[in-house]
Amino acid sequence: MIKVTFIGHSCFALDNSKQKILIDPYITGNPVAKSTKEQKKADFILVTHGHGDHLGDAISLAKENKAMIISNFELCTYCQNEGVKNVHPLHIGGGRDFPFGSVKLTIAHHGSTLGDKLQYGGNPVGFIIRTDGKTLYHAGDTGLFLDMKLIGELDKIDLAMLPIGDNFTMNISDAIKAVEFLKPKKAIPMHYNTFDLIACDPGEFADGIKPLGTEGIILDFGESYELK
Ligand code: NI
Ligand code: MN
Repeated sequence: MIKVTFIGHSCFALDNSKQKILIDPYITGNPVAKSTKEQKKADFILVTHGHGDHLGDAISLAKENKAMIISNFELCTYCQNEGVKNVHPLHIGGGRDFPFGSVKLTIAHHGSTLGDKLQYGGNPVGFIIRTDGKTLYHAGDTGLFLDMKLIGELDKIDLAMLPIGDNFTMNISDAIKAVEFLKPKKAIPMHYNTFDLIACDPGEFADGIKPLGTEGIILDFGESYELK
């Protein structure tokens, strides 16, 4: 069983009862994030791209927890330069086994610069995460892309975490198309209702994917779901 907690925006805490994994830990400054002290504990921190609403607290939490940051090569190097001791760089198409299972990087169509000076942060990515016998896909920030068909063909996805908020990422109708391509058993919408700019009704997404045979799981900020 994997406990999947939606902290808010694109931030999730995964707990397989042995290891804790944080994805895109945008907690400080996030107007909606709900996170307990326990959920800020992490053994591994996965970062999809360099934008502040994804890199978030990754560096400070990695130091606090002595956690390993897993990301693209450029962001891992940046985190190392910022004093993070333990990083594991991967790049698109590449994967690696870790104590909790494995991570493989996928493409994402977006940007990945760091801070106000727009320092280069490599290419943005998504993650295929295998743990506890389940396969999860976190798309990061991305527009819809046809290769999602290939991702769904190569991996039987149990749970997909997909952005739906429009403006910076897919909107709901594109995210429904993404589900058609990926064929996940379940999907959790993300990257919406953090700010007005990405406000939308996640219920429309859940209704839209039902006919495709995918269960939409809408979590409140801070709410957990047990993936069995
Ligand atoms: Ni972004
Ligand atoms: Mn974003």
